Amino acid sequence: MVAENLVNTERRMLKTMLTNKEHDWSLSEILSECDWSDQAVAVGAGQGLADKGFARITEHATTKVRLAEQGQLGVSEGLLEARLWQWFKATDQPTMANLQQSFAKHEAGPGIGLLKKLGISMNSGVFDCSDYKLVEEALSAREQFLTSLPAELESVDQELLEHFKKRRNFIELVVSTDRTWVLTKRGGKVSADELTETAVINEITPELLQTDNWRNAEFRAFDVTLESSTPRTGRSHPMQSLIERIRHIFLEMGFSELIEDYVQTAGWNMDALFIPQDHPAREMQDTFYLDNPETLALPDSIMETWSEIHQNGGQTGSTGWGGEFSKETSQRGLLRTHTTVNTIQYLADNPTTPCRMFTVDRVFRKEAIDRTHLPEFHQIEGIIMEEGANLQMLVTTLKTFYEKMGYPEVRVRPAYFPYTEPSLEIEVKWRGKWLELGGAGIFRPEVTEPLGIKHPILAWGMGLERLAMLVLGLDDIRQLYISDLEWLRNQPLI
Ligand code: PHE
Repeated sequence: MVAENLVNTERRMLKTMLTNKEHDWSLSEILSECDWSDQAVAVGAGQGLADKGFARITEHATTKVRLAEQGQLGVSEGLLEARLWQWFKATDQPTMANLQQSFAKHEAGPGIGLLKKLGISMNSGVFDCSDYKLVEEALSAREQFLTSLPAELESVDQELLEHFKKRRNFIELVVSTDRTWVLTKRGGKVSADELTETAVINEITPELLQTDNWRNAEFRAFDVTLESSTPRTGRSHPMQSLIERIRHIFLEMGFSELIEDYVQTAGWNMDALFIPQDHPAREMQDTFYLDNPETLALPDSIMETWSEIHQNGGQTGSTGWGGEFSKETSQRGLLRTHTTVNTIQYLADNPTTPCRMFTVDRVFRKEAIDRTHLPEFHQIEGIIMEEGANLQMLVTTLKTFYEKMGYPEVRVRPAYFPYTEPSLEIEVKWRGKWLELGGAGIFRPEVTEPLGIKHPILAWGMGLERLAMLVLGLDDIRQLYISDLEWLRNQPLI
């Protein structure tokens, strides 16, 4: 197949040219034979055939004589000298005064000169002609000349050409380059059977890929350098997209999602996690305590357990925090300050079945709003309860998560949380700096034993907005929530 890589227009043109192998094809012949109306299509196809060695282009620069404005009028309304001649023949008294009456000034003036040149003389104010035939021949030659235009310069009567060149705005000369196309030897050898046009494909669809049709199809070429406008369609908020991506990663890693309420008690939010009741983070200035509901009733049994653990460590071997435990404090209603409040309740309900759970949800803290703080933000929380779960496994899990997010450099540092031992801080390297993204650790016996939990529990809680700042390259966390449409539109897909 010699003609394999020809596009459809080239196929059609070559097929046409094969009907007359020796012929030098003009543009108008190609257009009509190929049934095209666009010259650019023909010229493009001809150029393609020439580039591939099937045709040869000959360029001819030609000068054409065309009618200009006065020439067109001369054709449609008759030449002024012809109209004057008609007048002369029809008038009894072809006087100067009569002529000036019959014709407008701008025609009468030059008209006299024209008549004289045709061989009409003037004797004491009266026109006279000795050879009618000569005048009529001259007039019809002029008319014929004009109606034969446009024509090539060489083909027209040179005397009349000179005549009309001297008359203003009758004719104009235009130089144009015409191309003709003739088959090369190679082109002449192509069999017309090879030149069936293939289907042109604009769009790649799953249906197309399922069949084998695409193999022989011609694909429309796209010019990716062309200017285009950005389509403005609806899209998810970048935070929502980020949450979806995180969800996918955890689901992929075998976790199940836990979605729970953010109205909670201080008991589950803090006491269950062995956060001492006089811990500064519990103060009014850090936690949003609720007026309604101001308290939420808790079963006495669970409060008894917490009370013992806090006061003396209960059966766990711990000495506890000492002091007095307040059940009223436990029952205070609040907005959760961390998603760990839901994790611990899930464990209380499911203490023995090994699990992997995660949450990406909203938490609240009384923070002054600034570049890196918001009173309402999200945490990415997770736990693994498994026999033999250990610190190494915790670090590996977190590393895997951040690696999947696109941050392969992760390190941990020792930290402190009342409910984990050991406790870690997780840091990710971004633009050469280590950034703290969250906390992690293994739950302490004071947390797990009263609930009847037997296996170690690896736990972490990380900031979603902090991570979003990295992903979106922000230096101000507030940008995420100010609904700046222009900014939102220009965010990358996450
Ligand atoms: N709850 C902690 C916080 O809010 C994070 C954390 C979760 C730490 C689980 C250890 C284990 O910062």
